[in-house]
Amino acid sequence: MHPISVARRVMEKTPHVMLTGEGALMFALSEGFPKENLLTETARLAWEEWKKKAEYKPKINVERHDTIGMVAIDSKNRIAGACTTSGMAFKMHGRVGDSPVIGAGMFVDNEVGGAASTGLGEMVLRTLGSFLVVEEMRRGAHPQKAVEKAVKRIVHKYPEQAKENQVGFIAVDKKGRHGAYGIQTGFNYVLYQRGENKIFEAGSLFQ
Ligand code: GLY
Repeated sequence: MHPISVARRVMEKTPHVMLTGEGALMFALSEGFPKENLLTETARLAWEEWKKKAEYKPKINVERHDTIGMVAIDSKNRIAGACTTSGMAFKMHGRVGDSPVIGAGMFVDNEVGGAASTGLGEMVLRTLGSFLVVEEMRRGAHPQKAVEKAVKRIVHKYPEQAKENQVGFIAVDKKGRHGAYGIQTGFNYVLYQRGENKIFEAGSLFQ
């Protein structure tokens, strides 16, 4: 049910960065994670409906972003990041999105900061978006400027796809400053600070 927790075990208990497929399942079971059915009734019914035409038009979800990315900084200014997603609806079996690919869906460099993305993974994979955000911060950019740069890069390189799709980034730097930005409106993010959650609407390139 929580692949993000299995991913953490990979980081903490193995010398590796990534496990996939059957090996990842074997590792999760050996770590005591139960095998669970992730298919909800709502998703099953949507799939039954989709099968009537079975048109191959995979989509990110209707709220225009799909993935939960998190970047945290502690009182010693140590940065951590996490990213978890169900990916794209009705995609080809075997399709890999940006979320599990380090540097695409999420990237942390503890000397600089961290970033995570949401939205259409293909556009983020093609630009290694989260890595780009962190590299901009390394060059001195404020996290807000860094996320804007990554969004603009994506729109510049993939203008047609960008018209119809969302990509958003969040970022935190080593000083605790943060930023968030999307291609389209509707990208909300939450800032948790001093025991309080605050929801913000991120800025966007298109209005
Ligand atoms: N952002 C998640 C995906 O494209 O799979």
